[in-house]
Amino acid sequence: MSSKVLLTGGAGYIGSHTYVELVAAGLEVVIVDNFSNARRDVLDRLEIITGAKVTCYEGDVLDAGFLDQVLAENAFDAAVHYAGKKAVGESVENPLDYFRTNCVGFSTLLAALDEADVRRVVFSSTATVYGKPDILPLPENHATRPESPYAENKLICETLLRQLKTSDDRWSYGILRYFNPAGAHPSSLIGEDPNDIPNNLMPYIARVATGDLARLRVFGDDYDTPDGTGVRDYIHVVDLAKGHIQSLRKLIDKDESHIVNLSTGTGYSVLDMLRAYEKACGKTLPYEVTGRRAGDIDGFWGDPTLASNLLGFKAVRDLDDMCQTSWNWVSRKTNSRNRP
Ligand SMILES: NC(=O)c1ccc[n+]([C@@H]2O[C@H](COP(=O)([O-])OP(=O)(O)OC[C@H]3O[C@@H](n4cnc5c(N)ncnc54)[C@H](O)[C@@H]3O)[C@@H](O)[C@H]2O)c1
Repeated sequence: MSSKVLLTGGAGYIGSHTYVELVAAGLEVVIVDNFSNARRDVLDRLEIITGAKVTCYEGDVLDAGFLDQVLAENAFDAAVHYAGKKAVGESVENPLDYFRTNCVGFSTLLAALDEADVRRVVFSSTATVYGKPDILPLPENHATRPESPYAENKLICETLLRQLKTSDDRWSYGILRYFNPAGAHPSSLIGEDPNDIPNNLMPYIARVATGDLARLRVFGDDYDTPDGTGVRDYIHVVDLAKGHIQSLRKLIDKDESHIVNLSTGTGYSVLDMLRAYEKACGKTLPYEVTGRRAGDIDGFWGDPTLASNLLGFKAVRDLDDMCQTSWNWVSRKTNSRNRP
């Protein structure tokens, strides 16, 4: 496959890992990022990993004129869209901001793509579009009941893609619903680097391991799970990134739209994660059990069958690999924006 792909948000956590896999698969990639949540030196690091020059346009997906210029200067076969905001709690506090970046940003991009005759899009959705599960593992045909502005934003974007396809059959889309991305690249040159106190479990545990946070707070140990703590489906970010190649292949080679989970089908509890991380970093990590958080549920994991059948996708990296690569990444001080 030798095609040219526009990668929005390509300097971010998942985007940078996807960049590496796209280049390894022989694709030509152009990044668009406004660096609102990424360091500029990610680009240097991507050059070290891939051994090739990175092309990046700095700008905002809300800026139609900027997108038109990028599209006029490049003949793309497809776009992979990551640029956006992703913190569930923040979306509750700033729904307008989230709608603008995630929904208006995406529709601005789609309009520019349409104008430029680029109608294949891989979209970074989320398993939170499902809401509380009726059954586990969660299949793609499960009802969608988003419970936050963030999840609602993603569902709106999914709907827009489906409506576009109905209006004009030249569109094709890969909607990928991610479970919980974790881990880092084996080079330790790229990884997750939250700007603030991390919202997600693994980066939080990582900050406890580096000594930047005193202890992990475990929100409830009386759930209906083997050890009483919440169970979630964690997927290695490199596996997740590789899933995008398979999705793109389906669009570019076969023109077949799809909605699939990117999950492992296996759940790990908060304490499983803590123990695995302790093994990776060689330290005992302090934690305290506090009360349940409103809205949290016992368990949440995906059904990976459709991704396997449709895309040939299978996550192969295990929890130890997620923890080890995360630890290798965070324990290098120069990798963090936040550490002295
Ligand atoms: N990380 C997760 O747990 C997770 C789970 C499900 C879905 N997703 C989705 O995947 C995508 C990527 O997530 P991530 O974890 O890599 O996040 P990230 O914040 O690391 O990456 C997003 C990138 O987009 C850029 N960006 C943000 N707003 C922009 C704008 N208006 N114009 C141009 N660039 C902009 C940021 O600078 C950053 O580099 C997001 O859309 C997120 O909602 C993430």
